[in-house]
Amino acid sequence: MSNASLFLEAANGRDTKRAPIWIMRQAGRYLPEYLAIKAKHSFWEMARTPELACEITLQPLRRFGLDAAILFQDIMTPLPPMGVKIEFAPGPVFAEPVRSVHAIDALSVPGKDEIAPFVADAIKLIRAECPVPLIGFGGAPLTLATYLIEGGGSKDFETFRGFLRQEPAAAHRLLDKLTEVSILYLSMQVEAGAQAIQLFDSWAGLHDARTYREFAKPYNQRIFKWLASYRIPRLYLAVDALHLYGEIKELPCEVISVDWRAPLSQVRPLLGKTLQGNLDPAVLLAPKEVIAQEAERVLREGLGGPHIFNLGHGIMRQTDPEMVAHLVEVVKRFNRVSACEALAS
Ligand code: CP3
Repeated sequence: MSNASLFLEAANGRDTKRAPIWIMRQAGRYLPEYLAIKAKHSFWEMARTPELACEITLQPLRRFGLDAAILFQDIMTPLPPMGVKIEFAPGPVFAEPVRSVHAIDALSVPGKDEIAPFVADAIKLIRAECPVPLIGFGGAPLTLATYLIEGGGSKDFETFRGFLRQEPAAAHRLLDKLTEVSILYLSMQVEAGAQAIQLFDSWAGLHDARTYREFAKPYNQRIFKWLASYRIPRLYLAVDALHLYGEIKELPCEVISVDWRAPLSQVRPLLGKTLQGNLDPAVLLAPKEVIAQEAERVLREGLGGPHIFNLGHGIMRQTDPEMVAHLVEVVKRFNRVSACEALAS
């Protein structure tokens, strides 16, 4: 089996001899060569210029032997075409948060080719040069709605949580529109060449299981069901969401990305899918011996079924790229077959 397909093999449910590795938020943030580009361009310029988006996507692959690439964009990319103004400072800031039925009805649903043609162009450029599979992505409707209504990042997203309770029917209308746009946007990515799709539901964990069942699950299901016809692996991430795994296990997707709060061996029986994760991103701030020890612990926890090695959430800005190189080496030298035999004897 060539390394180029190891990620897809594991994502499609095969228990590979070595765990493939990629790192959430591997493009951008902590790489000096990314910061050099960022010094000259705004976030939207980088995202909307296919050559720059391609370059930033490939940067981490030139340094590290990663098994997959992730497209350089943001979960916010499909929102400005709906009529929403967003700036990055560094997180997304909305000029006018969407907080009324009127504002929700005013959002447009652009055609598939109008949402973000620059993303299709970037994907084609990347595929021509990229030695490993390319992961496309989007934000899950509930997480996109969280930002749209709150108007930006927040600790507790109180405005959004209040809106869900005060205006549930309006919230459903918004989620329905976001689902429609997400289906078009993600289909476009696959048709342009994305070889897997990850749905980021970063803020799903804010809610209890009943609320998730009402406002998140049906929309995530619709997106994943639509993507089924493309026969590419579908990945799902919800952070701090252990209490939701009873619902999440029913999503029609192949891979669940698990954060660092629970050992993979504990969640495997609950989910019955390929697991992705789940090293605490803070471990990459520690000395090399600690990184090796903690990564090997995660690798051992991941035995007994298909595992894609990753962090439990995005890499931190202050991470030294040398530590990422070290992590990749540790993961690549871990033989899952002999580790299993050692455990059995
Ligand atoms: O490897 C990659 O990073 C690929 C591209 C990518 C970006 N955003 C680029 C970006 C991806 C996969 C995302 C996803 C994203 N964006 C999520 C979901 C994942 C998660 O971490 O939960 C969320 C919630 C966002 C919203 C967002 N965009 C925030 C909160 C921020 C600010 C802080 C930060 O760095 O994440 C952004 C800006 C953003 N998006 C940057 C990058 C590289 C930082 C721009 C800068 O360098 O200042």
